[in-house]
Amino acid sequence: MKTLNIALFGCGTVGSGVYSLLSEVAQKITWRTGATFRVAKVCVCDLQKERPVQIPPELLTTDGTALLDDPAINVVVEVIGGEAQALGIITRALVNGKQVVTANKLVVAKYLPLLRRLEELHGGRLLYGASVCGSVPILKLIDETLPFDHVNKVRGILNGSTNFILSRLADGVSRTDALAIAEREGFLEADPTADISGADAAQKLSILIYHAFGVHLSPDAIPTTGIEYITERDLEHAHAGGSTIKLVAEAWREHGIVKASVAPRLLPLGDPLAAVRDEVNIVEVTCEGVGVQHFTGRGAGSIPTANAVVTDLLDIVKDRRYRPHQPTAPPPIHALLNRVAA
Ligand code: HSE
Repeated sequence: MKTLNIALFGCGTVGSGVYSLLSEVAQKITWRTGATFRVAKVCVCDLQKERPVQIPPELLTTDGTALLDDPAINVVVEVIGGEAQALGIITRALVNGKQVVTANKLVVAKYLPLLRRLEELHGGRLLYGASVCGSVPILKLIDETLPFDHVNKVRGILNGSTNFILSRLADGVSRTDALAIAEREGFLEADPTADISGADAAQKLSILIYHAFGVHLSPDAIPTTGIEYITERDLEHAHAGGSTIKLVAEAWREHGIVKASVAPRLLPLGDPLAAVRDEVNIVEVTCEGVGVQHFTGRGAGSIPTANAVVTDLLDIVKDRRYRPHQPTAPPPIHALLNRVAA
């Protein structure tokens, strides 16, 4: 029987969710996969800190390097967030040929081409389904259900906390109270500016673009406006005119070039994105062949994100990888046939 010896880096909102979920479903996982998932160590900054879950003290460590270089650890789960330290953990794990699961959209969005190269060179694997849209397996859906089609546009609500805040503003709740509730629910990043400024949505959009269009567009290169200046009055006015305001992330092809933006948009109430409330995310994918499809589900919070991490762990046993569309991929056959017909 295969055993996954997991080193869990980080035990905040997502890490504690991963730990609890793995403890809860351990038997089911073994029954389904024949493999044992064992959290061997949990790496944290502060051993004494109070955590949302009880971790046996012998599992806790502050020595991340020892874990990354330990041949007995075959899986690294990185859920500390942030950039430099997380990038260090992921790259060292990949260079050591380990299986890596991360929820870190910032690192994945900025460094995906490099990380994929490290996978190839050292035989490890990087899985990052939890980095985009929490519980919605959107990257898998794009990789596996649309590889023979041609994506023309993606549009969506990719940030749960700002959608939650906009929903509360629409209910007449003040901005301060809405922010406080989103923070209490664990939807916001450690630095909420990333959510409010639209940066978090731009990072997720960058990863979606890589999968949908086969192009790496760094999140810094995506024109981004946040919801800093939106108040309950704006929502009231929008509703009076039969619309609402949503933070919309979108990317499309224009003359063969991929363009993208993140900004608050006034949407008619009949728009499929307008109906999506609270921390729920939605992605609308428009393809040449199959037309418009919508994928929706909870995009933030401990359990939806932990669920996506555990799904990626199951994929290690199934020997699955994310397979973004290749930039050099030829146009799909129906596009070629359409050209012939024209
Ligand atoms: N802060 C993020 C959000 C968490 O609100 O969507 C999930 O990525």
